[in-house]
Amino acid sequence: MAQLNVNNTVRTVDAEDDTPLLWVIREQLGLTGTKYGCGMALCGACTVHIDGVATRSCVRPVSSVDANAKVVTIEGLSKDGSHPVQKAWAALDVPQCGFCQSGMIMAAVALLRDTPHPTDTDIDAAMTNICRCGSYNRVRAAIHAVASGRLADAGLRITHTDGSVA
Ligand code: FES
Ligand code: FES
Repeated sequence: MAQLNVNNTVRTVDAEDDTPLLWVIREQLGLTGTKYGCGMALCGACTVHIDGVATRSCVRPVSSVDANAKVVTIEGLSKDGSHPVQKAWAALDVPQCGFCQSGMIMAAVALLRDTPHPTDTDIDAAMTNICRCGSYNRVRAAIHAVASGRLADAGLRITHTDGSVA
């Protein structure tokens, strides 16, 4: 038995010490917004926050998470999708199939918390999540939109990797 603070609710979970946090979140707590992709800390689909730090929960043993640590999943960002990053994602139609996007959003929120006005280099360094649909340009644009505070304008403009604007 272990206690976890997930989305500001203290939960008691029954799991082996080496059970990945991801499985506890999904299967015991029923928070299925966090996805399983690779199970090897490579793709970022399983990204949650632990005390504000973007963390790949597929390789994080549940026993290593302190009972006082604040775990936040995509469901804990906002009740209604109103977090600024979620709004930017919607405004710019970032998701394609959507599978990677919870992890992308959690990584972006952590980035913007630490670096409110990230450069493209900052974004590339922080956003190591993998998207099989190739949403990278829109992810970058959405992060810039949040940083600029001009979602409406940014929603009409996508800057491609070659510098062209659409
Ligand atoms: S499922 Fe955790 S990084 Fe891919
Ligand atoms: S939106 Fe499909 S994998 Fe990223």
